[in-house]
Amino acid sequence: AVVVRAEAGQAGINPDIRKTEAKVVDSVVVTELSKPLTAYCRCWRSGTFPLCDGTHAKHNKATGDNVGPLLLKKQ
Ligand code: FES
Repeated sequence: AVVVRAEAGQAGINPDIRKTEAKVVDSVVVTELSKPLTAYCRCWRSGTFPLCDGTHAKHNKATGDNVGPLLLKKQ
């Protein structure tokens, strides 16, 4: 069973993906990028969407969720 806590009207957005992990983060190595690292938001809460601004930590704490960004790393 999946347990997602909700506080202050917030709900988790990840009901079943890799719930044993504290934060789900994936990274991809790309040969051509202008910056060495770019983080894309997957919690839908970022103030700089589509880029991650770290707001996922607050979302995860409030909801018990475990979402994290997709990292694109320059090779
Ligand atoms: Fe959404 Fe980081 S702010 S994943």
